[in-house]
Amino acid sequence: MRVLTISGIFAAADHQPAPPSDDESETVYKLTPISRLLVDDDGDDGASSTPRGMSAMLRLLARSDTAVAPFFGLGAWFRDAGAATLFEAARGAPTWSLTRSDASYNEALNDGCAANSSFAMDAVLNDGAAAGGASSIFRGLGSLVDVGGDHGAAVMAIARAFPHIKCSVLDLEQVVSKAPSDGTVQFVAGDMFQSIPPADAVLLKYVLHCWDDDDCVKILRRCKRAISARDGVGKVIIMNVVVGYGTQDNVVKETQVLFDMFMMRYGGAEREEHEWKKIFLEAGFSSYKITPILGFQSLIEIFP
Ligand SMILES: C[S@@+](CC[C@H](N)C(=O)[O-])C[C@H]1O[C@@H](n2cnc3c(N)ncnc32)[C@H](O)[C@@H]1O
Repeated sequence: MRVLTISGIFAAADHQPAPPSDDESETVYKLTPISRLLVDDDGDDGASSTPRGMSAMLRLLARSDTAVAPFFGLGAWFRDAGAATLFEAARGAPTWSLTRSDASYNEALNDGCAANSSFAMDAVLNDGAAAGGASSIFRGLGSLVDVGGDHGAAVMAIARAFPHIKCSVLDLEQVVSKAPSDGTVQFVAGDMFQSIPPADAVLLKYVLHCWDDDDCVKILRRCKRAISARDGVGKVIIMNVVVGYGTQDNVVKETQVLFDMFMMRYGGAEREEHEWKKIFLEAGFSSYKITPILGFQSLIEIFP
C-alpha cells in the first residue's frame, strides 16, 4: 500500500479514533483520480457514473503472455535480424492471428479496446473545449465506417451524439462474431486489406500505429476508395499519436514513449508529423489537418 500511495494510485490519511478510545490512529486509503479510472462503477459516493472505467485496458496491458513477455526476448530479437516482430518471436504468431486461436487473448483485447474507446470518445464528444472542439469533425457526415472498430464502442458513442450518422464497423470475423450489438451499428466481418464498405468517412482509431509504413499505405488506399466522392464530405479520420503534438509534460511524454515501445512489439510505430505526411501523400491523399485531443492523442483528418 505504501508503494501504491507513493506512486499516486491511492491517497493515505491518518484517521484518529474518536475519544475516549485509546486505539492508535490508523491509515485510511482513498481513491485518487488515477485509481478512480480503475473502478468500473463509480459507487455510492454521489459521483456521476461516466464511461471511463479503464480496468479492462489495464488487465490487457498487464497480461504477462502478450504484453510483458515479448520484451524479455528483446535482446535475442535485436541480435537475430529475422523478419518476425518481437510479438511473433515470443508468441509464434502475429497478434491478429492469435486473436483467432486464443479466445482469452481475443476477449482481453476486445474488452480493453472497448474500455479505452469509451474513455477516449467521451473526451472527444463531451469535453468540447478540452478536446479542442473535436466533435465538430463528425458534423455533416451521413455515414461512417470504423475500420478495425473492434466491438463498436467508438461508433456507438458517435451514433449517440450524432443520431443521423449511419455507423458501421469493419473488423475481423473473430472480433465481429463476439460483438454485442445494440442495433444502432452494423457489424461487417472482413479484411481491411481486401475491401472496405463505402461511407462518407472512414474512422481508423488506434489502428495504423499497429502497422509499418507500407501496410499503412495499403490500408489508406483502400480507405480512399471507400469514402464519399461528394464534394468536401469524404475524409478519413485517424485517431493516433502525432509525436510532438498535444500535452508535452514529462508524465505524459513518458507514457507516450512507452507506447512507442509497445507498438514496436507489433512492428508498428508512433509517428511524427513528417512520417504521417509521407504515408498520406503516398496513399494518394492531398491534404490533412491535425487536432490534438487528449494527452498525447490527436485526430487527423485526411482529404482526397
Ligand atoms: C489496436 S485494435 C484497435 C481497436 C479499436 N479501433 C480501438 O480504438 O480500440 C486494432 C483492431 O484492428 C483489427 N484488425 C486487425 N487486422 C485487421 C484486418 N485485416 N481487417 C480488419 N480489422 C483488422 C483488430 O481485430 C482490432 O480490433
